[in-house]
Amino acid sequence: MVEAFAVASGKGGTGKTTSTLALGMALADEYDVTVVDADTGMANLLFHAGLADVEVTLHDLLLSDADAAVEAAVYERFGMKVVPCGTSLAAFEAADPDRLRDVVASLAADTDVLLLDSPAALGSKSAVLPIVLADRVVIVLQPTIPALSDGLKVQEYARSYGTETAGVLFNKVHEEEDVDRIAEQSARYFGGPTLATIPRTDEARRARQAGEPLLAYAPESVAAGAYREAAGALEVNAGESGAVADRFKSAVIPDHP
Ligand SMILES: Nc1ncnc2c1ncn2[C@@H]1O[C@H](COP(=O)(O)OP(=O)(O)O)[C@@H](O)[C@H]1O
Ligand SMILES: [Mg+2]
Repeated sequence: MVEAFAVASGKGGTGKTTSTLALGMALADEYDVTVVDADTGMANLLFHAGLADVEVTLHDLLLSDADAAVEAAVYERFGMKVVPCGTSLAAFEAADPDRLRDVVASLAADTDVLLLDSPAALGSKSAVLPIVLADRVVIVLQPTIPALSDGLKVQEYARSYGTETAGVLFNKVHEEEDVDRIAEQSARYFGGPTLATIPRTDEARRARQAGEPLLAYAPESVAAGAYREAAGALEVNAGESGAVADRFKSAVIPDHP
């Protein structure tokens, strides 16, 4: 079985990478989880996962003359399989986004939950691909009206490729913010529930500096608990692995999204 989730948002810096790794670690208690840094132009998952110095990354798998095996870019970390992406602009430019389909198809054949840390902007082929490929999208937002409107654009976009919303994560929430009011609006417009409300916390920043996911760095924190709650609220569907892999391979990606 496998279900693929894209972790997305309208803007950068909302906490997609933090959330991808946190959800991944929480889900790994129950499932075989693979997380992929599919934000190939602004990759930063490697820094969050202590993988800044590794030799082979997703970029090496996306080169048109790639001869690296997919497994060479898969690292067992924090109870998950982690596929980091490099940060070189030259490698990003040399990468063929279409190849991500085959890489994801190959990873999907051998895991229960696939989390694709996705790009923020939706303006290019490499940016929309994770949303096109995923079964469902988890939208990461700050609890403000403008952020909701960004998130709804992501949802609208995802739906145009048949990708439904699994749920919304409110991140970097200030104590005094009126999340309930926003969550009420959110429940009305998004296709999935509010999965959790994650407080703004210094531990998230310190975890990144330490090169560890939040759930490894501060497992007892309120934020970590909220991510575990979010993972519990995500009802993972058991797609048949072969069928999912075939769908990935044959996905049609827009040239001009
Ligand atoms: N709940 C939070 N509280 C405080 N800082 C956070 C929180 N979540 C993420 N951050 C910080 O915000 C920055 C951006 O987070 P990141 O997960 O890299 O976002 P994205 O992948 O969406 O660009 C990082 O420095 C991260 O440590
Ligand atoms: Mg990121």
